[in-house]
Amino acid sequence: MNILVTGVAGFIGSNFVYQYLKDHPGDSLIGFDALTYAGNLDNLSNIPEGEKKRFHFVKGDITDPEQIKATFNRYDIQGVINFAAESHVDRSIHDPAIFLRTNILGTHTLLDAAKTAWLRDGKWKENTTFLQVSTDEVYGALGPDGLFRETTPLDPHSPYSASKAGSDLIVKAYHDTFSMPVVITRCSNNYGPYQFPEKLIPLIITRALDHQSIPVYGDGRQIRDWLYVMDHCRAIDLAFHKGKAGEVYNIGGSNERENIFIVKTILQFLSEMTGDSDINEDLISYVTDRLGHDRRYAIDASKIQRELGWVPETSFEEGIRNTIQWYLVHRNWVKSVISGEYQSFYKKNYG
Ligand code: NAD
Ligand code: DAU
Repeated sequence: MNILVTGVAGFIGSNFVYQYLKDHPGDSLIGFDALTYAGNLDNLSNIPEGEKKRFHFVKGDITDPEQIKATFNRYDIQGVINFAAESHVDRSIHDPAIFLRTNILGTHTLLDAAKTAWLRDGKWKENTTFLQVSTDEVYGALGPDGLFRETTPLDPHSPYSASKAGSDLIVKAYHDTFSMPVVITRCSNNYGPYQFPEKLIPLIITRALDHQSIPVYGDGRQIRDWLYVMDHCRAIDLAFHKGKAGEVYNIGGSNERENIFIVKTILQFLSEMTGDSDINEDLISYVTDRLGHDRRYAIDASKIQRELGWVPETSFEEGIRNTIQWYLVHRNWVKSVISGEYQSFYKKNYG
């Protein structure tokens, strides 16, 4: 089976490629990525020799119908897993338009190409699936109690989450209108290797290693539900192969933590692991809060556990230690991905 996987050069996409090629020796992946500031081909440079012939890379933009069509024509694509997106909330506050373009129009371009390839004489080609990788942020924010369920109404607040909700709705519309075989997954915050250092956990690690201040937005008591990236990738694999068409599956680790807890825990682990006593809580700097900052996210993942047998396998401590270890070994990777574009964005917006 040939699967078109978009966004493969980013954080979750690259982790997914490694795991999928290993777990499915009969399948080939067509990796598609525009290589924006967040995409880096080096992230895919460790595919084992014996698996390379089952991975083909296409540089392209999901908003470009010609490039997508050419990829469908060249390879006999039976599945699509759409990771490609603009993914950073802070960037969406400064420049919403690209989020709408990539996340909504790009998803539609993919859906339309898949429909053209898979729907013949009113019948869908057998064993085809379009999986949309979405996020818990489409549900909005929670108060101190409660969990996001698949039935929770969509109530996005940031341009990023609104654009992801828009893409979910167009995916749903293709199912409801054309009976397209689609599955949507909505996951909580991921962490792990290859995450771009603008996101909280790699930002803490990389800045602390350089003894730079750690910006904590507002009071630091916002809550996220953290999941190790490989557990997310296994859930997507299951939802793609076993998920029911038209269904949504929430994915999360039941691992709610306040941001300030994450910051302090990482500083402590980093100091222990490096023996550097200058890595300590003096680096913490409380800064102006993110606009429209969602207070709390927490996922009820009981549906995917019950129906598809998924459970998270990596404990928070194990996942964080693995992640810190990876960033310690890959300091050159960090230097190479922090391009001039990133530095000027960061400087302009955060000083
Ligand atoms: P990322 O920003 O690390 O990677 C995104 C990838 O998409 C990059 O390789 C980039 O080059 C590519 N891309 C961007 N625009 C493109 C375009 N127009 N055409 C083709 N490729 C394009 O993101 P991530 O953190 O790996 O997230 C992947 C997906 O998972 C996203 O859809 C995101 O919304 C979703 N998600 C992320 C998390 C998380 O915690 N990171 C949690 C839940 C869901
Ligand atoms: O919930 C899933 C989402 O998680 C994904 O859909 C997004 O793609 C992903 O970026 C992530 O969004 P968040 O906004 O939750 O992640 P981020 O790492 O940007 O921030 C996590 C929390 O930490 C959030 O409450 C904001 C706070 N924060 C973040 C940064 C970058 C800080 O306090 N300081 C910072 O410098």
